[in-house]
Amino acid sequence: SQSTNQERRKEPPGPRPLPLIGNLLQMDLMKPYITLWEFSKKYGNIFTVYLGPKKVVVLAGYKTVKHALVNNAEEFGEREVFQIANETSQGHGILFSNGESWKEMRRFALTTLRDFGMGKKISEEKIIEECKNLMEVFDQYEGKPFDTTQSINYAVSNIICSIVYGNRFEYDDPEFTTMVNRANETIRLVGSPSVQIYNMFPWLGKWFGSRVVMKNILQSKAQIRKLIGCLQDTFTPQVCRGFVDAFLLRQQTQEESGNINTYYNSENLLVSVANLFNAGTDTTATTLRWGLLLMAKYPQIQGQLQEELNRVIGSRQVRGEDRKHLPYTDAVIHEVQRLANIVPMSLPHATSQDITFQGYFIKKGTVVYPLLTSVLWDETEWESPLSFNPSHFLDKDGKFVKRDAFMPFSAGRRACVGESLARMELFLFFTTLLQCYRFTPPPGMTEDEMDLTPTLGLTLNPTPHKLCAHSRV
Ligand code: HEM
Repeated sequence: SQSTNQERRKEPPGPRPLPLIGNLLQMDLMKPYITLWEFSKKYGNIFTVYLGPKKVVVLAGYKTVKHALVNNAEEFGEREVFQIANETSQGHGILFSNGESWKEMRRFALTTLRDFGMGKKISEEKIIEECKNLMEVFDQYEGKPFDTTQSINYAVSNIICSIVYGNRFEYDDPEFTTMVNRANETIRLVGSPSVQIYNMFPWLGKWFGSRVVMKNILQSKAQIRKLIGCLQDTFTPQVCRGFVDAFLLRQQTQEESGNINTYYNSENLLVSVANLFNAGTDTTATTLRWGLLLMAKYPQIQGQLQEELNRVIGSRQVRGEDRKHLPYTDAVIHEVQRLANIVPMSLPHATSQDITFQGYFIKKGTVVYPLLTSVLWDETEWESPLSFNPSHFLDKDGKFVKRDAFMPFSAGRRACVGESLARMELFLFFTTLLQCYRFTPPPGMTEDEMDLTPTLGLTLNPTPHKLCAHSRV
């Protein structure tokens, strides 16, 4: 009957949109994830919002997000390729692609990262080695306050360099530093209100804030192309130095077997490499900086963590396999990721087909935001969602406990490709640094004065700040 048909086609509710600008006037573009989180309290766990003329269905709360991304992984597993992402990726790579090309590139990245020891010994060695370089920089400040951003970015970026190119760079190599700093600026800009507006109203034209981003991205691509070129010139099938070589090798074998419809082309290589850098550097580095900031803010928690490190590890080098004997440390790292919530709306998804979900009809091709904020801070899942409380991940005996609503890497078909690498990096960098230094606010500043308000970029960053790293050894 007509009424059941209409019932079936009921669309998710939401605030009433105005023509053209939709719900923009109700949005705080500096904190869009907070506005959406507030909407979810008013309109429920699945609601519609208009970002300019663009209709977006938002999924909120652990149960709804999991039900969509995991139990309906196919339907909710497309990527929305927004304006600026489309201009830069043009269907290539892993982050902003779909269909067969995406599937092949994602699978290749996952297996290659695994072959290069993601979560295994090889990358463990590289991370430990890089941590030593990072600590040389920290040591130079001799306990005086400094901003950790740049050196942490260099260290984390070098891990991806090792995996992708097969070598690291010195922190004073201008080619390397401009590359890292530029990528950082790009990420900050892509999340800025003006680029958000550009994504909503592309016809406003390129003068609206996206010019710097495009210039940066073109320069990054040129630099990556050059680095790939160097590897190509010295390529021998017998020695595989990293991701790029593995790709070139695959390209060669496919060509030799007469496969002409191959996805292993130079554009897919270039964009995939750029994706690994953009997705893998800022995220991990930002999480580490949140971790150090939170340690300076909560000296008791830092002290308890260091007590555990002293007792279990002593002064030897920490290893990945030590994690299971360090429940408190593990809980602290999880809690840093939960509270810092660095990818607050995940990346935008889209539906691959019409679907009726939790009683609502969502058309094929609708943009979907999995609001990770509302999962990581879900009041029905966490005992004290807005405070820094490592007990969220500990049972009454102090053993580490996994929590379902811990979803900083998202879930399902598009879940983070670098999760195990990121987890290994966070664990080794964080524990090694905490083993060697006690982190405090600058002299004259109290812990209470340390600001935890995030600044917006594509990821949520700590507000610029300085810390002191006092040597513990
Ligand atoms: C995607 C988080 C580190 C590579 C994502 C997504 C999130 C995320 C939320 C979006 C998932 C979705 O669409 O629902 C994080 C966090 C990290 C981290 C919190 C560190 C703490 C890394 C690293 C790499 C990486 C180290 C690379 C080695 C990727 C890629 C995608 C992705 C390629 C796109 C997957 C796809 O579209 O199929 N990540 N990530 N990430 N991440 Fe990560």
